[in-house]
Amino acid sequence: MSLIGNFFTSSIGRKLLMAVSGLILVGFVFGHLVGNLQIFGEPDRINGYAHFLQSLGPVLWAVRLGLLATAAVHIWAAVVLTLENKKARGALDYGVKGYIRATVASRYMRLTGLVVLAFIVYHIAHFTLGSADSANYKDNLPHFTLTEDVREFGFPLAAKGTEVHDVYSMIFLSFRNPIISGFYILATGLLSFHLLHGFESMFQTFGLRNHRWCCCLRRFTTLICLAYFVGNLAIPGAIWLGLNKPHAGTHAASVAPVALCTSCDAK
Ligand code: HEM
Repeated sequence: MSLIGNFFTSSIGRKLLMAVSGLILVGFVFGHLVGNLQIFGEPDRINGYAHFLQSLGPVLWAVRLGLLATAAVHIWAAVVLTLENKKARGALDYGVKGYIRATVASRYMRLTGLVVLAFIVYHIAHFTLGSADSANYKDNLPHFTLTEDVREFGFPLAAKGTEVHDVYSMIFLSFRNPIISGFYILATGLLSFHLLHGFESMFQTFGLRNHRWCCCLRRFTTLICLAYFVGNLAIPGAIWLGLNKPHAGTHAASVAPVALCTSCDAK
C-alpha cells in the first residue's frame, strides 16, 4: 500500500492526519482573530483588509476549498478514531466505567466540536452570505470610501479613495444584538475549550509531550487558549457593552441602537 494510503488506513496515520489538519485549522482561526481585532482600530484598517481578501479572487477560492478539505479530513479522522476506540473498549468490556486522567476538555471534544461546526455554518450564513442578519449585511449597507492607503508590514492592501464594503459597520451593527453577541461568545468559548485538549493531543501525536515538560505544556496551552478566548470575547463583548463605539462619520455611528424592549420607552 502507498504511503498516502497508509495514512488513511492505519490508526497512527489517522492520528497524524487529525493533528496536521488541526494545526492548519488553528493557524486559520488565530490568523482570523488577528484580522478581526482590527475592529478596535480605524475603520479603514478592517475595511481595507477585507477588501484585499475579496480582491484575491481565485486565490481566495483555493484557500477556501483547501480549508474545507482540511476540516473534512479533521472531522472524518475524529469520527473513525472515535468508532475504533469504542469498538476496542467494547471488546475489553470494562466492569467499571470511569474517566481516569481524562480532562474535562477531552471528555467533551465531540460536543464542543459539533457546536463549533454549527457555529461555522451560522457564521458563514451571517457574515459571508448575509442570510442570517440581512438588514446589517455588507451588501445592504452604503459603501465605505477608504480615507487613507491601507498597508500591512509595508505591503499595500488597498488604496485611498477605493469604494469598499463596510465590514466595519456590519460587525458593529450585528454585535449590538445581545443574542448574536452571546452566541459568538458561547461558541468561541467552546472552541477555546476544544483547542485546550486538541493542542495537548497534537503534541502527544508529534511525540513532543513527555513527563519532563508535560506540566509546562499544559500551562502553555491553557494560556494560549485563554488568550484566544479573551480576544474573541472582546470583539462582540466590547460592542455589545458599548465599550467599543463606532468612529464618528461611519455608517454604524449614524444608526441608533434598536431598543430590544419597545414598551420600556412607552410613557
Ligand atoms: C468575534 C469573532 C469573529 C468575527 C468578528 C468574524 C468576522 C468575520 C467576517 C467579517 C467574515 C466575512 C468576511 C467577508 O466576507 O468580508 C468572516 C468569515 C469567516 N469566518 Fe469569521 N469571525 C469571527 C470568528 C470566527 C471563528 C471563531 C471562526 C472559526 C471557527 C471563523 C471562521 C470564518 C470562516 C470559515 C469565514 C469564511 C471565510 C470566507 O468567506 O472565505 N470566524 N468572519
